[in-house]
Amino acid sequence: MSTLRIGMIGAGRIAAHNCNSINAHPDARVVAVADSSRERGEALQNEFAIESVHTNADDLLADDSIDAVSIAVPNAFHAPLAIAALRAGKHVMLDKPFTTNYPEAVQVAEVARETGLTFMVSMNMRFRKETQTVKAMIGRGDLGDIYHAKAYWLRRSGIPRLGTWFGSKKLAGGGGLLDIGVHLLDLALYLMDNFEIESVSGITHRTFGHRGLGEGGWGLSDRSENVFDVEDFAGALIRLKNGTTLNLEVAWAMHQPEDKGRNNVEIFGSEAALTAFDAKLCRFGPEGGEYQVTTPEPIETPHATENRFLNWIDVILGKAEPVCTLPQALAVQRTLNAIYRSAETGREVTLAEIADEATEAAAAG
Ligand SMILES: NC(=O)c1ccc[n+]([C@@H]2O[C@H](COP(=O)([O-])OP(=O)(O)OC[C@H]3O[C@@H](n4cnc5c(N)ncnc54)[C@H](O)[C@@H]3O)[C@@H](O)[C@H]2O)c1
Repeated sequence: MSTLRIGMIGAGRIAAHNCNSINAHPDARVVAVADSSRERGEALQNEFAIESVHTNADDLLADDSIDAVSIAVPNAFHAPLAIAALRAGKHVMLDKPFTTNYPEAVQVAEVARETGLTFMVSMNMRFRKETQTVKAMIGRGDLGDIYHAKAYWLRRSGIPRLGTWFGSKKLAGGGGLLDIGVHLLDLALYLMDNFEIESVSGITHRTFGHRGLGEGGWGLSDRSENVFDVEDFAGALIRLKNGTTLNLEVAWAMHQPEDKGRNNVEIFGSEAALTAFDAKLCRFGPEGGEYQVTTPEPIETPHATENRFLNWIDVILGKAEPVCTLPQALAVQRTLNAIYRSAETGREVTLAEIADEATEAAAAG
């Protein structure tokens, strides 16, 4: 078969990882890159021997020899570029978060469905070996009835490069919740195999970024945005329709003893609990024996690779089903919107309210 020709839109910090992942597939190759910075585009071109470089995504999308694109640019450009790429006949892998708000995600989803092209939001944590192990154990019923989960990613100093688009509400849509909270929310719902959310009670705080504190190392964009008007902490109590609850906590920065931060998803059931990183199974001993905390036995997992691009490419080639589906991505984006709305209004927000918002936005054009 002929090689799938892939274009990169965005040549920032994540782009090199994405190129490596794409080129690892025997039937795909990165052949073009577009970045508004010629310097970053050319750097990626040189590193991966990419055929062509553009400073405008439209020029890349006009190239009929390109089959698919990976989009990794500031969040505000996710929706317009995903729509333009789909309309240009390209399959799309869109880096997380899906969009900056739910109405935009609905628009992208409509175009994806209309065109019938493969569209996926890039949720790499689903593909981790630990995730797949926990998923398989939950799938065979090891936890009994699941009633609660905790998902957290608490960094001590992990705000992406200050002064770049990451701290700008206009360009990023939000802060830590959209950037890393999206991973944890998605992961917990994926592990519980339940994306049916009823309501959320959310909070956000901005404590460090605007004071020039808490920066981590991530991001290649220039320090051209003299603003930090997003949250660096967010939390939510999320109620699912079946009564299960999920507690989410995310900090780009916070005071804590752990230099490397804390990151886990813990799922609690009637018979046992599982933590994902590292995988640990916790349960009562048999017949009143000592409480047991064990490392799970190896188990066959459906997705044996940590490389999400292999799944996306195989879906395009008709060889696999998507691990990250569009309805799930929409549910996650809608929940993120509800958390922000709840934090703003100081009350619990139902997901139905966020759907109404999307309908109103669509009607308003
Ligand atoms: N899956 C993951 O775990 C993961 C990890 C990091 C980043 N991301 C996502 O990837 C995206 C990019 O993040 P990053 O860390 O590479 O950011 P970055 O700041 O390092 O790079 C962004 C790049 O986009 C370019 N750009 C901006 N507007 C553009 C446009 N309209 N057209 C073309 N290029 C444009 C910039 O010049 C820059 O080179 C973000 O949405 C981020 O959330 C995902």
